[in-house]
Amino acid sequence: MQPVTLDEELRWATQMLEAAGVAEARLAAEALLLHVLQRPRSFLYGHGLDYFTPPGHARFEELLRRRAEGEPVQYILGFEQFYGRNFLVSPSVLIPRPETELSVQTVLELASPLPVPSPLIADICTGSGCIAITLALELPRARVVAADISGPALTIAARNASELQAPVEFREGDLLEPWRDLAGGFDLIVANPPYVGEDEFPHLQREVRDFEPRTALIGGPHGTEIYQRLIAQAAEFLKPGGWLVLEIGYRSAARLRSLLTDWEGVEVIADWQGWDRVIKARKTSGETAARATK
Ligand SMILES: C[S@@+](CC[C@H](N)C(=O)[O-])C[C@H]1O[C@@H](n2cnc3c(N)ncnc32)[C@H](O)[C@@H]1O
Repeated sequence: MQPVTLDEELRWATQMLEAAGVAEARLAAEALLLHVLQRPRSFLYGHGLDYFTPPGHARFEELLRRRAEGEPVQYILGFEQFYGRNFLVSPSVLIPRPETELSVQTVLELASPLPVPSPLIADICTGSGCIAITLALELPRARVVAADISGPALTIAARNASELQAPVEFREGDLLEPWRDLAGGFDLIVANPPYVGEDEFPHLQREVRDFEPRTALIGGPHGTEIYQRLIAQAAEFLKPGGWLVLEIGYRSAARLRSLLTDWEGVEVIADWQGWDRVIKARKTSGETAARATK
């Protein structure tokens, strides 16, 4: 076999992925090559003319084949970055998305002016644990608990918490139910629930549809059904004046507003692309409720 340089190998790999319909083919090829070489991104500057050795070549081809068949780079590499930290991912968990950082940001902004020194925060539908773990690390005085209906997802979340030394308590079960013993005591509840409608599912990108867990994606026939149950539970679990922060699908804001008519301070927040991404709402405080009944 003719010796090939890293530059030549990358050009060939990029063309091969493009031919397979992979978006951002060059970036994927670089990430997989660097993974095989066990080198940082900066390595490619200045080493493009290095020869690529045969054992590495076979391994690289195997990873490229997986990517060409649609498997996301993050599952192949086994991690994804979220809020500046590396999170382990496997096909049991949704790959953390950059837009979910907006939910974290919203919680951080709401948490700082809270009148309690150690707020109690729940992350429901925690998946890889990316939201809960980030909050626990960014708000070291908070008590952060989390839940997911998927046991395999919680195994990954617990590994992430351990790797990142984040003191998050995880329990398995439906929405807030596993934390019923703390009902009425939460200052903040955040969730990124599954919100794809059954009709939308067949039209998702193959990377998502064929590789990410279905339970992490489908939120009911219209995608918003799970919110109805979660909002009702959150009203029971939050303290008066506590905040609910939900990630939402880009078509769901009106439906979500209609489910939050009994709440205060309802606001839809758009992401950097201009899509409605997060809704926040405050459980009516005792004072407001008392004023309303006078
Ligand atoms: C969209 S993923 C979000 C994962 C993670 N929080 C994130 O933002 O990357 C939704 C998660 O909700 C979980 N889930 C689905 N139905 C649930 C339910 N009824 N109760 C609790 N968790 C549920 C899935 O297992 C999945 O991990």
